[in-house]
Amino acid sequence: MSVTTAAGGLLLVIVQVIQGHSDYAVSYTSTEVCALRGSTVDLSCTYTYPLTGNDRGATVVESFWFIKKSNGVYVDVRSDPDYSDRVEYACENNNKCTLRIKDLRDSDASQYMFRFITNQPGEAFNASPGVTLSVADLQVQVSTLAIYSSMIVTELACQSSCRLPDHLTYIWYKNQQKKKEGESYSDRLNQTDSVSCAVKGHERISTPSVLMWSQRGYAVNFATPVICAFRGSTVDISCTYTYPHTVYDHARRVYHDTTVMDSFWFIHNRTQVDLRSVPDSSSRVEYLCGNNKCTLRIKDLRESDATRYKFKFITNQPEGSFTSLSGVTLSVADPQLQLRVRRSVSQDCAWTELTCHSSCPLSESVSYVWYNNGERVGEGTKYLLFEYFRPTDSYHCAIRGRKRIRSPSMSYPSDAPQTPSVSASPSGEIAEGHSLTLACTSAAKPAANYTWYKKNRDTLQFLTKEKRFLFRSIKSSDSGQYQCTAENYLGRNTANITISVKYTPRRPSVSVSPSGEIMEGSSVSLACSSDANPAAIHTWFKENRNGQHRVVREGTPFVFRSIQSSDSGQYHCRAQNKLGWSSHNISIAVSYAPRPPSVSVSPSGEIVEGSSVNLTCSTDANPAATCVWYKNQRLIKGAERSHFLSPVTSNDRGMYECKCENKHGCNFTSNFLNVHYAPKPPSVAASPSGELVKGSSVTLTCSTDANPAATYTWHKENSSSVKASGHTFTISDITAEHGGNYYCQVQNRYGHSNTSLKLFFAPVKSPYVNVNIIRPTLLIPLLVPVLVVTLYLRMKKSRSLKTEANEIVEMMEVRDDCSVY
Ligand SMILES: *[C@@H]1O[C@H](CO)[C@@H](O)[C@H](O)[C@H]1NC(C)=O
Ligand SMILES: *[C@@H]1O[C@H](CO)[C@@H](O)[C@H](O)[C@H]1NC(C)=O
Ligand SMILES: *[C@@H]1O[C@H](CO)[C@@H](O)[C@H](O)[C@H]1NC(C)=O
Ligand SMILES: *[C@@H]1O[C@H](CO)[C@@H](O)[C@H](O)[C@H]1NC(C)=O
Ligand SMILES: *[C@@H]1O[C@H](CO)[C@@H](O)[C@H](O)[C@H]1NC(C)=O
Ligand SMILES: *[C@@H]1O[C@H](CO)[C@@H](O)[C@H](O)[C@H]1NC(C)=O
Ligand SMILES: *[C@@H]1O[C@H](CO)[C@@H](O)[C@H](O)[C@H]1NC(C)=O
Ligand SMILES: *[C@@H]1O[C@H](CO)[C@@H](O)[C@H](O)[C@H]1NC(C)=O
Ligand SMILES: *[C@@H]1O[C@H](CO)[C@@H](O)[C@H](O)[C@H]1NC(C)=O
Repeated sequence: MSVTTAAGGLLLVIVQVIQGHSDYAVSYTSTEVCALRGSTVDLSCTYTYPLTGNDRGATVVESFWFIKKSNGVYVDVRSDPDYSDRVEYACENNNKCTLRIKDLRDSDASQYMFRFITNQPGEAFNASPGVTLSVADLQVQVSTLAIYSSMIVTELACQSSCRLPDHLTYIWYKNQQKKKEGESYSDRLNQTDSVSCAVKGHERISTPSVLMWSQRGYAVNFATPVICAFRGSTVDISCTYTYPHTVYDHARRVYHDTTVMDSFWFIHNRTQVDLRSVPDSSSRVEYLCGNNKCTLRIKDLRESDATRYKFKFITNQPEGSFTSLSGVTLSVADPQLQLRVRRSVSQDCAWTELTCHSSCPLSESVSYVWYNNGERVGEGTKYLLFEYFRPTDSYHCAIRGRKRIRSPSMSYPSDAPQTPSVSASPSGEIAEGHSLTLACTSAAKPAANYTWYKKNRDTLQFLTKEKRFLFRSIKSSDSGQYQCTAENYLGRNTANITISVKYTPRRPSVSVSPSGEIMEGSSVSLACSSDANPAAIHTWFKENRNGQHRVVREGTPFVFRSIQSSDSGQYHCRAQNKLGWSSHNISIAVSYAPRPPSVSVSPSGEIVEGSSVNLTCSTDANPAATCVWYKNQRLIKGAERSHFLSPVTSNDRGMYECKCENKHGCNFTSNFLNVHYAPKPPSVAASPSGELVKGSSVTLTCSTDANPAATYTWHKENSSSVKASGHTFTISDITAEHGGNYYCQVQNRYGHSNTSLKLFFAPVKSPYVNVNIIRPTLLIPLLVPVLVVTLYLRMKKSRSLKTEANEIVEMMEVRDDCSVY
């Protein structure tokens, strides 16, 4: 057996017939059943199956009646909506099973088969061909005895369309009055008399009344006996009529063809006045007639139009005209609309059918509109939902174009599942790795079926058809919204529960922005993020030189408004919640232009001419800088970070600059290298120069190069006393006694030097003194009558030097403009 679902939402059973199994049998009480329409019928059978045996202790687990529908599928009668509420199954202990069908309809005529299933694998038995049920339709059958112009003498029989049991008694009614019991009925009947029959005991199910005149072929049929319409609308009242096409004239023994001379509608209690000639209605009335059909259309309906309308047609035959008996009753009032509901009983395939029912039949041109919560959802007499009622639904129908004519609202049935209560256990916080059960309960009659879903954005992911759903070891990804649906065939309701799984922070991710090289002074932001529940708190640590970590910032991002080189280093971000922590390391390297270089001189102390000295330049830069040395603004080739001078000469004294550069810039430091040395041989100048006259004066100036500056003393040969100190020596009022050898002696703590000069008198040619400058090697004392002063000068450019005894290297300036070179 396999079960599948058909388009109509019915449970289908595709039957695998086990044939020829003599141990199984079904015997139907009767295989042909005829029952009256509207009555209740029982179809029954008894079944047998092997009760004992070595391996067969079979019991019947399920039995039902089924039919084959017109579309070829087999259907359990109970699940067929055509039978809803009209069928019952009953099985007794003696294996007798009965199918009861109430309020029998023509459509119930079918073949009913019984099926039972045992607990043995594959053991199912279908009893074919089953019971053929026919639905009897009672009819009055007329055998005419004699026809007069206004009367028929007739004999009538009550006939069934299938063979009813023989012992039944029939009851006869004339004009709804009971007349007689018996097989047949004879009477004299006129045009308006009607006769019907019924089976005794089933009087409720009588035949339609047979109008006698119809026996001669005259009839007027109305689509509906009552019709209702609302004020201001247009209504169509229709009928069809029939008449004999030829009538035999007994007197003349000829046939006459029938012609309809006239036809019209009239109000039942008036004296058959054609409505078209009634002043009140003529302008609003219209006939649409032809082909034995005639429609009365009344527009702009008023309450006064509510009455019974009849139809009359007049022929050329002797018996003349035919007037409809009943007519159509029109009521002009707002119809009472009601909702009727049918639902599928199988929860595998939910549907709900709503029908809009009017208390009185409305014209065919009237249609309905459907609303759910006031919003238009469809049109038509029926509205089909492909699911069950939801608690939020509230349906009503209304007449199209007349919203106010509406049914009461139909909302969620009270026995449908109530809002489920959903819970998670254990309650409280849910930590990753633990187990968790979701449970759902809802009051409903019949008991609800449950379905658990997980919501993934807009879709629902099916989990289970159980009340409970278990997570053995819950994961963080299981966090989210869950929905439980409870449903029975009356409706569907849902409830949601949110699960939040707590877990330790995942390894954080750290980002540096802006990305790329980090320039000193720029603004840098370190962001740390980690997935955690509850949300993690972020803390930044920095590693110091000793490898220890200390907190530098709480929270993220960590912003350096103006990052410094000192901010370089190893950082880590720790993401922490109460369940634990994890961290991520990041190394920050700040780039910067070289710092002003620092210069060291080794050995330290005074630099004395002749010694060795090592100048070393170093700077702080990232990336590392290259440094070069300049002396007096000229690049010293071959010198890099260190510049070695050996031996140091006084010429090495001067301004040294170390310039360091990387791609971000350059910087340099200027230093003065102070070399100490003994005085160089001095030079002497006289002023005025040339010849001096006796009694004039002369100023001798002695110059030397020394560091520190030399002290000057003036001496005269064979004279022990110092003649003067300071680098000028003025002799005034010159006399012969002034002649002689003079020395200018220069001295500092590194040494001394002297220069001699000779003052002598030349033969007097004029009263002037000659001052001659002579080379020291030519220093020969000469006595001349005229005093002539000769100076030996060794000229050297003099410089004004700043000296401080203990200072060797003096920083003169720091420049940050490297473009000079
Ligand atoms: C027909 O007969 C019934 C009595 O059976 C009588 O009441 C009725 O008036 C008659 N109708 C006509 C049109 O003769
Ligand atoms: C027709 O019958 C209705 C009640 O059935 C009555 O109210 C009305 O007055 C009658 N009309 C005539 C013209 O007799
Ligand atoms: C609903 O539940 C009933 C019994 O609880 C079960 O027989 C039926 O198959 C269920 N239907 C669905 C659609 O799960
Ligand atoms: C549950 O979630 C669904 C879908 O998001 C929503 O339509 C429904 O209103 C929710 N139910 C409750 C009780 O919150
Ligand atoms: C981060 O640095 C610390 C200290 O240096 C070390 O203990 C830890 O293992 C590092 N973590 C990672 C993920 O490298
Ligand atoms: C030289 O260093 C100083 C101090 O660090 C700095 O302010 C200056 O910008 C640097 N010069 C250049 C050209 O980078
Ligand atoms: C000069 O000093 C530097 C740095 O201290 C050193 O590397 C270099 O060898 C020294 N030069 C000499 C010649 O001593
Ligand atoms: C200085 O004395 C020396 C010897 O004592 C002598 O030879 C010399 O001539 C003297 N010089 C002068 C200029 O008197
Ligand atoms: C001058 O210098 C010479 C050569 O160094 C030296 O012999 C002489 O004694 C010096 N004279 C004086 C007065 O210092």
